[in-house]
Amino acid sequence: MCGIVGVLGDHEAAPILVEALKRLEYRGYDSAGIATVEDGHLDRRRAVGKLVNLSDLLVHEPLAGKAGIGHTRWATHGAPNVVNAHPHRAGEVAVVHNGIIENFRELREELGKAGLHFETDTDTETIALLVQFYLQQGKSHRDAAAEAIGRLEGAFALALLFDGQDDLMIVARKGSPLAIGHGEGEVYVGSDAIALAPMTNRITYLEEGDWAILTRSAIEIRDGDGRLVNRPVKTVNIDMAQVEKGGHRHFMAKEIAEQPTVLGDALAHYLRGDGIELPQPGLDFADFDRVVMVACGTANYACVVAKYWFEQIAGVSVEVDIASEFRYREPPIGPRTLALFVSQSGETADTLAALRYCEGKAAKIVSVVNVTESSIARESDLVLPIRAGAEIGVASTKAFTCQLTVLFLLALQAAVDRKRLEPDELEANLNNLRHLPGLMNFAIAQSGEIAAVAKSVSEARDVLFLGRGAMFPLALEGALKLKEISYIHAEGYASGELKHGPIALVDKTVPVIVLAPTDNLFDKTVSNMQEVMARGGKVLLVTDPKGARAAADGCWKTLIMPEVPPVLAPILYALPAQLLAYHAAVAKGTDVDQPRNLAKSVTVE
Ligand code: F6R
Repeated sequence: MCGIVGVLGDHEAAPILVEALKRLEYRGYDSAGIATVEDGHLDRRRAVGKLVNLSDLLVHEPLAGKAGIGHTRWATHGAPNVVNAHPHRAGEVAVVHNGIIENFRELREELGKAGLHFETDTDTETIALLVQFYLQQGKSHRDAAAEAIGRLEGAFALALLFDGQDDLMIVARKGSPLAIGHGEGEVYVGSDAIALAPMTNRITYLEEGDWAILTRSAIEIRDGDGRLVNRPVKTVNIDMAQVEKGGHRHFMAKEIAEQPTVLGDALAHYLRGDGIELPQPGLDFADFDRVVMVACGTANYACVVAKYWFEQIAGVSVEVDIASEFRYREPPIGPRTLALFVSQSGETADTLAALRYCEGKAAKIVSVVNVTESSIARESDLVLPIRAGAEIGVASTKAFTCQLTVLFLLALQAAVDRKRLEPDELEANLNNLRHLPGLMNFAIAQSGEIAAVAKSVSEARDVLFLGRGAMFPLALEGALKLKEISYIHAEGYASGELKHGPIALVDKTVPVIVLAPTDNLFDKTVSNMQEVMARGGKVLLVTDPKGARAAADGCWKTLIMPEVPPVLAPILYALPAQLLAYHAAVAKGTDVDQPRNLAKSVTVE
């Protein structure tokens, strides 16, 4: 959510900044801008909409200088227009910012009384004005920045550039990630290491509350109390193929297709001999009598699927909560509660706040994340990586199935720890998992058939998804995927709940997508499906060959998935749900990878 970059270099900064912003554009695409200092002169260019608009502007109005900062915006305060686009400037100071300054109104009032003039509706402009205010009082750049940063409340990663200073940048991190890249006589800054990958793989991650004074020859990092600190330089090797489309039309298509491979990688990471090996310091589920799972969006649906697994396989009582509700509800967390947080980015503000709420209360804090350098990972007692690789498409796909896989392994481990699973049962489950990538390939091979159905679905105004048991959360996920990228209104329901209200929506124009592997609830789901068809509903049945033989009659369409052990069906059936959404969006011509109003990595609440 908003991406920031910076460079103090030996080459022209503008092309480097634009290139780096390209790799951060998934974080927001309401506007983009850069500022540079050339011969001591600070200047900026900003454009509304996608980064390509900024690139076009730079062709006509180039910006020289070897020091610069850049930003790609997901609007929070103030409309997405040029005036509100970053970098913001006040006098000698330019700033780019990711996050929210919560006390900006108080600061604004104070600065207004001191005679400073605001040009925008944004919280970010307050940062530039505050620094400028302290500069006007005669403070040095570092003191002015330190004083201003100390007064900011909320979440931020920011970079400051100054008129008259082409070898100085001041950066800070609180609640939003910030990475410093080390080059040869050059220094870079980025919201993540991916942005900096072509320039350097030597990265220092700022810790919470850190701020740093950067010049080409020295990096001075201070903690929130102003103490000089040493943060390690890590070698972060990012496979550039992961951040390119690799011949696919969209990142989402590539990421759907990658699932058999990344799932295989995730399994290889956790399976040892005939058992599961969790990273250190490990876990013993005999120590807990309750698990609380907290996440947002797709990650939350992964938790709801996992609830079925934990309860059925391990007999552990699980509560699943949406992070934005959990964090303010003051739920009791006892000393035998395991608190588990699931997040692709590891930076989702609500999930991070929920984790912090549990600190000191829960027996253990465990996170299931994709980005292992993220804030959520850093603040957990145990980190379980999902190994999905970089996910660039805003709609989560491979992260979801990898989250499910890791959660399934964890449920099995819980069952082992609680002596609910015999070694041969564990082995059978692990073998089934090992076959899953192959089955996923069969599902992906049906992309063409799914595209044909999706064409009709794309013409609908409303779509319903139905499922029972662990297929219910998958119905929720299928609906979320469809609405977020195709903008078609879609809802997911537990099949048994339909007749308690939503069935009133059914008519011949509403596709009803029934996710029904032949599990122990299949007959019940089919009964609910019949209720829909009896009212003229247009059913798309997604099932296996046996299910198709038993229930395809009267359905509008049937998609046949390979047979899969029912417990793993939520992972396999995620693929047709993703492909349906993808092809419907392509048919509608929407922006699949960067759907309107959304951004990856939601670092504001
Ligand atoms: C939907 C989607 C979002 C995210 C949610 C949580 O396709 O991607 O719903 O799942 O914003 O994000 P993370 O997993 O990064 O915490």
